[in-house]
Amino acid sequence: MRMAIRGETLAERLALRARLAPVPAFESMAGMALSGVLVAGARLGILERLAEHPATAEALADDLALRPEPTRLLVEALEALGYLRRRGGRYAPTRRARRWLVPGSDRSVSRFVAAGGEHWEWWAGLPDVVRGGGTAAHHTAPAAAPYWRDYITGQYELARYSAPELASAVRVPPGARSMLDLGGGHGWFAAELCRRNPPMRALVVDLPGSAAVGRDLLAGTGQGRLVDFQEGDLRETDLGTGHDLALCGNLIHHFQPEEILALFRRTHAALRPGGGLAILDLFREREGHRRRRRPSASASCLGLFFHLSSGAAVYSPEQLTGWLTEAGFSPPRRTGLRRIPAQSLYQATALS
Ligand SMILES: C[S@@+](CC[C@H](N)C(=O)[O-])C[C@H]1O[C@@H](n2cnc3c(N)ncnc32)[C@H](O)[C@@H]1O
Repeated sequence: MRMAIRGETLAERLALRARLAPVPAFESMAGMALSGVLVAGARLGILERLAEHPATAEALADDLALRPEPTRLLVEALEALGYLRRRGGRYAPTRRARRWLVPGSDRSVSRFVAAGGEHWEWWAGLPDVVRGGGTAAHHTAPAAAPYWRDYITGQYELARYSAPELASAVRVPPGARSMLDLGGGHGWFAAELCRRNPPMRALVVDLPGSAAVGRDLLAGTGQGRLVDFQEGDLRETDLGTGHDLALCGNLIHHFQPEEILALFRRTHAALRPGGGLAILDLFREREGHRRRRRPSASASCLGLFFHLSSGAAVYSPEQLTGWLTEAGFSPPRRTGLRRIPAQSLYQATALS
């Protein structure tokens, strides 16, 4: 969060460089402020409204039935962070905000950002978790809880953006007819892969709360005809047999190591010999790399975040290779993805 406390004057910049400023005090606040401003902007529909009608802070507050003073402070903060610009006293979204935060954009991640407000409580619980308390266990929310719609719609927004790149990178066996999308949630990755690889169809296997949202989302986009949903817990549900391909996107960081090995074994049994398994996820740096350098902040903080969410972690490529080979797969090959910077795609083949 250094950017947020960059000195405005030469004297301030020099003080920062000379380590005279109490940087941790600013850092402990800046992260919350950045997240708070973005989440409030998305939840209150501020960017959306200003994209339709640029307005002064007062007019915006009036329009959205908000209190004038905090609205003014919030739009000023959005301006300072580069999401709004002001001309003649009226605010409008910048190009960056129009691309990523205005709901009508096909790259919008505004629902993902809005859903991020759920995570503050998780972070606030970090000291308790470290002392031995329970994690958020968010996948145990009741199937009818509104949480699922916010969560899975946010994941869908990210997938909508990255699906073309992912679908080009996944090796689909020639003539494939059937794929599994393990924890596929919104089903968008499966829909894109099937659309590009006829006559393949997909079965998304996911918890009831996610599957219900995924079905609705795909039906709403007209992309549902190639994708079926099966409700079930992947630690025990039947996966069928004879599938050509399985995708496992952003799931294993919610599972314990022994659950991952068991899932890979059952996935191997569900695939035909020579079938493919594609795993999209965040991973820790390779062990050799970690010995030489300090860990990357994004992998470490996200690893901690996943632990807070479901008690698991991000794993290393060496661990992944170990589980895959033990479950009967070839050692995986890695592809980096530009549209999902911190993530990697690993692909392996089911050996007979
Ligand atoms: C982070 S989302 C990823 C969604 C999608 N695969 C993607 O990459 O965008 C994790 C998904 O795993 C599902 N999931 C988590 N635990 C599960 C379990 N035990 N059984 C089935 N699905 C599970 C969640 O419901 C959610 O849809």
